[in-house]
Amino acid sequence: MSEETSFIYDLGVVGLGYVGLPLAVESANRNLSVLGFDIDESRINDINKGLSPIEDVSDSELADVLKNFTATSDSSKLANCNNVVISVPTPLTDYQPDLSYVISAAKAVGENLVKNQVIILESTTYPGTTIEVLIPNLEKYSGLKAGDDFFVGYSPERIDPGNQEWKFKNTPKVISGIDANSLEKIKIFYESIIDETVIVNGTKEAEMVKLLENTYRHVNIALINELAMLCKMLEIDIWEVVNAAKTKPFGFQSFTPGPGVGGHCIPVDPEYLSFKTRQIGKPVRFVELAQEINNSMPSYVVTRVSELLNSKDKILKNSKILILGVAYKKDISDMRESPALDIIELLIEKNSDVSFYDPFVDNVVISDTNVTKELSVGNFKNYDMLLVLTPHTQFANINFEAFENIVFDTTGSKFIKSTERI
Ligand SMILES: NC(=O)c1ccc[n+]([C@@H]2O[C@H](COP(=O)([O-])OP(=O)(O)OC[C@H]3O[C@@H](n4cnc5c(N)ncnc54)[C@H](O)[C@@H]3O)[C@@H](O)[C@H]2O)c1
Repeated sequence: MSEETSFIYDLGVVGLGYVGLPLAVESANRNLSVLGFDIDESRINDINKGLSPIEDVSDSELADVLKNFTATSDSSKLANCNNVVISVPTPLTDYQPDLSYVISAAKAVGENLVKNQVIILESTTYPGTTIEVLIPNLEKYSGLKAGDDFFVGYSPERIDPGNQEWKFKNTPKVISGIDANSLEKIKIFYESIIDETVIVNGTKEAEMVKLLENTYRHVNIALINELAMLCKMLEIDIWEVVNAAKTKPFGFQSFTPGPGVGGHCIPVDPEYLSFKTRQIGKPVRFVELAQEINNSMPSYVVTRVSELLNSKDKILKNSKILILGVAYKKDISDMRESPALDIIELLIEKNSDVSFYDPFVDNVVISDTNVTKELSVGNFKNYDMLLVLTPHTQFANINFEAFENIVFDTTGSKFIKSTERI
């Protein structure tokens, strides 16, 4: 193990996905020299050619920073990085937190660790991961001691893909270190690329911040989804209620109902919290209830689809339904955990004839079968129903009023002229 302290790169990013690539690009943009490390060779090749794999970074933004940024699958180059940020996936496998990517990233970093490096975990995870999982692996593979030989901290990522207002630089960044020296180094690093840092006392607190933020969203979405279903039965327009309630200038934050929750964070992160609290024999009751409600939304949507068709003397079987939007949120292509997948599957089980239209998504595969993609917005006449599941901005160009059959909008978007809303 060398004791090198002058580094070729200011930053090494491990995992060049939705979180890691924007961090690498923004840092390179601020004239930091950046190395990106990923195990996906084709992603590395694309990035080095200036082809971005994610919407939040355009090809031209990427190409512009390549003088300061290079991607590699050679982990030995991580030894040349002053700061190393780990942003690899933390999914659920069999409904349990799966830290295998964090552990393999820690191995790659640990095997190449040199004295005085700063290692920061950004992957979302349960409290305790930095101390209980990351550091033991870094020490095991490096033979060095955290705190004495190298610096460690945790900083949750708040990136919101597609958000045009709150971006990487102006979103305050929560930071933590395992000791004062680590914290100081981490603060200096983030303040070189981000407007504002927020210090919390320990890595467990920083890990918990992210879980609080996403559990808060998960629970509030479940609350409004439950109220939407109840309001429907009470013949109350939930959208009128939400729009009026949100005029209260204090004490109320508005959430809107929808077809369920998707993405890599909201459905997954609360499970990480539950996993941790179950270790002390306590469930997070709010999380369990929220999961039950949010997970029931796809079947609620299908029930409503069936009722709406029945009201026109049609049935689900053989009805032609066009799904508008399959990504889990607007204006991006990410379909991870998208409720659209569950809804399409349920509709196919009922023998509906389902197609989809999504300007961001090329393929939807359900049970090994490709769902037909409608290529243009001109062919809607043949459908019994347009079912809006994602409010992509481009849908504002669709002439919904010209469509004679049902437009069922589960997203409540102002620009969608629907005949029915959730
Ligand atoms: N996507 C979001 O909006 C978001 C927001 C906040 C936090 N997060 C969290 O950030 C983390 C990363 O999420 P993401 O959405 O960027 O994931 P992603 O799937 O988009 O990207 C992860 C990248 O890591 C690479 N990778 C996997 N194992 C690796 C290894 N051992 N070494 C190097 N590279 C490896 C993959 O090839 C991939 O390119 C997760 O913990 C996630 O929960 C995501």
